[in-house]
Parts: sequence; C-alpha cells; structure tokens
Amino acid sequence: MATRSPFAEIPQAPPDPILGITEAFLADPNPDKVNLGVGVYQNEEGKVPILKCVTEAQRRWLAKEDSKGYLPIDGVKAYNRHVQRLVLGDDSPAIAEGRAVTVQTLGGTGALRVGAELLSRFVPGRTVWVSTPSWENHRAVFEAAGHTVNQYPYYDPRSHDLDFVEMAGRIGQLAEGSVVLLHTCCHNPSGVDPSRDEWLKLRDVVQSRGLIPFFDFAYQGLGDGLDEDAFAVRAFVEAGIPCLIANSFSKSFSMYRERVGGLTIVTDSAKEAAGVLSQLKRLVRANVSNPPSFGAQAIALILDDPELDALWRSELDQMRARIRKMREMFAAILGGMGLDRDFSFIARQKGMFSFLGLPVEAVHRLRKEFSIYAVDSSRVCVAAMNERNVHRICEAVKAVAS
Ligand code: LMR
Repeated sequence: MATRSPFAEIPQAPPDPILGITEAFLADPNPDKVNLGVGVYQNEEGKVPILKCVTEAQRRWLAKEDSKGYLPIDGVKAYNRHVQRLVLGDDSPAIAEGRAVTVQTLGGTGALRVGAELLSRFVPGRTVWVSTPSWENHRAVFEAAGHTVNQYPYYDPRSHDLDFVEMAGRIGQLAEGSVVLLHTCCHNPSGVDPSRDEWLKLRDVVQSRGLIPFFDFAYQGLGDGLDEDAFAVRAFVEAGIPCLIANSFSKSFSMYRERVGGLTIVTDSAKEAAGVLSQLKRLVRANVSNPPSFGAQAIALILDDPELDALWRSELDQMRARIRKMREMFAAILGGMGLDRDFSFIARQKGMFSFLGLPVEAVHRLRKEFSIYAVDSSRVCVAAMNERNVHRICEAVKAVAS
C-alpha cells in the first residue's frame, strides 16, 4: 500500500509581501521595469553597486585567507569589536566596562531572531510591541520565536509624519518588562523618525516603565550620518537602560547577500554580559552552528584599515547624498505636475523608504500598466530611483493617483 506523503496537507503560503514583489519583478519582460519594492540601494545606472572598498577588501582577504575552518560560534572577533564601536560609539563606557556583548549574525534579521529567542527563553511571557506600521517581517520573526506581537501607534498617514503623542502615550501604558521594538533611524516603511527631543522623552518613558528596548538598526549612515543615526541607541545606553541592538551592514556596505549583521546586548555588568554571551552562543549553535566568514572578514578588514575605512565613509556619504537628491527630485517633479495631492513630505523623510499614500488598487495598476513595482502598502524604495527613471515613475504615479 502506498504511504501517503506527510506533506500532502501543507497549504500554499502566500508570497512574501516584499521579496515576493522582486520575484514578480524578475519575471516581467518589460526592459523599462523598475523595482521600488525591496529596500536595496541602486546607483545612477540602476545597479546594486559593489563598493570600491569592498572590492579591495575582498581582493586582500582572498590573498590572505589560509583556511576554511569553522569560525567561533560568535563570529569574527574583530568584526564584533567594530560593530560595538560603530553602534555604541568609540568612547562608550559600556564597551570599556565589558557590559556589551556582540555576536555576528546572518544579517539584521538573524540578529532580531537570536535576540527574540533569548528573550523568549529567559524573560518569557513578555509581549513585543512594534510600530504601526513596521517592517513587514518583524511580526513574523518575533512570532516565530514564540512571542505575542502587538502594535503601538507611530505613523499618521494624514500628516505623513510621526504621531508622537499617541506613540509615547501608548508606550507609557505598557506593562513593565514589555519589549518595545524601535527603529533607530530611517524608519522602515515610513521614512519618519522621532526628533532628538522626542527620543529623549521616549527614553524617559521606557526607563520609568521598566520596558526592554530592542533597537532595529539596519540603516546606520543612510539617514544623517554614522554617529548622528546612532543618537537614540547611545542616549538609551548612556542612561543605563539595558537593551538589545540588531544591526545590519547589508545597506551601509551594500553587501546584502553576504548576510552581515550583529546582535549587541548592553547589560548592567561584565558578569551579566558573560552570562548573556554564553546563552547567545548556545542559541546560535542550535540555529546555524556558527556564522559564515567572508562578508564579516571583508568588513573587519575595511574597518581595520584607515584608508579603506575613509573610502567606505565617503562611499556611504555618496549613497546618502544620492538618496536625498532623489527624494528632492521625486517630490519636486510630482509637485510640478499639478496634482491635487501633496507629495512634498517625501523630501522631508529619511532613508530608503516612503509611503506614496496610494490605495492598493493604484499600486497594482503601477505594476500592471507601468511595470513599476512597489509594496502593496504603497511603500516605495526611493534608493532605487535615478535621474533616468524618476520622470517615468512620476508620470505613472500621476496616472494612477488622479
Ligand atoms: C526591505 O524592507 O525591503 C528590506 O529590509 C529587505 C527585506 O528583507 O525585506
């Protein structure tokens, strides 16, 4: 008798709301297609660049690498040191006092997942709160680690701005020990961040309620600058608030497929830190055993070398400046089209993303009629626009928005 397949009842899952758009984009034969779906920086030629500093670091690393043995469970030590320095600041007392620990992770997502698992194992029963809206994958990552995920108010679609009063009000009512996921800069998907004053107020709320901040720091350097973008994390750490920070170098080094991330946890003491690190290593071991080498070695090599480090900083500055320029162009062209909608907010927002504020039907028309791919929520990746495609994108937006 034939055995029934154990997989027969597995239902079809829907495509991923972001990466599924890329699949549809790749299948589109239109040579003028534009992928504004996924958050990936493209240069003026519409290419995801390999940075010059990365090309040189790869060359040097390949000439130097003399073994393919496993990395330690927590990854490349020099890389982890640089993660801490970039995230917490060169002079951070938390680093000097040995209160911060870092493990190398598979991108920012891997860092969120390891952190989520640590929380569900050692501080169970906490609800995780994410912004409304948040990155499409946040809920899935935390739920997969066993958390209940709720949402606090954040973006006001009418003003295209932060609703700080509602946000701080809701966070101020959370039960002690709740986990609050905060986007350190370049909020994904809205491009709207709290001001410095607002961060300081939030810090007080988080501290007085005894909440656990979990920072998602995927866009360092693409908002206002490397140090400027770290303001919130450093302000919370300075106030002595224990926290988790998931950082990613996917965007800042344009090394998306190398999965270069890190999870840093700032604790109260070196003793606490040692316990946390030991448990993080167990979690990594049970998930992926130990991380891949190449991307982290290349980044460590860049950051260890003053010339390559300076080259990286200048290439990062160029990416940031180009995104800003595209924001301005996009808003200005749309502004000159005589539409009865105001798109000027796009020039004020930061990082890769903004919402167009269009209904899903309009987003689908962009896809079907113009081969312009955005996320259903009408999130667009401004970093995928260039001077050649921006006019066509604006014409298409005009057609579907009016
Ligand atoms: C995005 O939001 O588009 C990026 O963070 C890529 C991803 O994995 O979703």
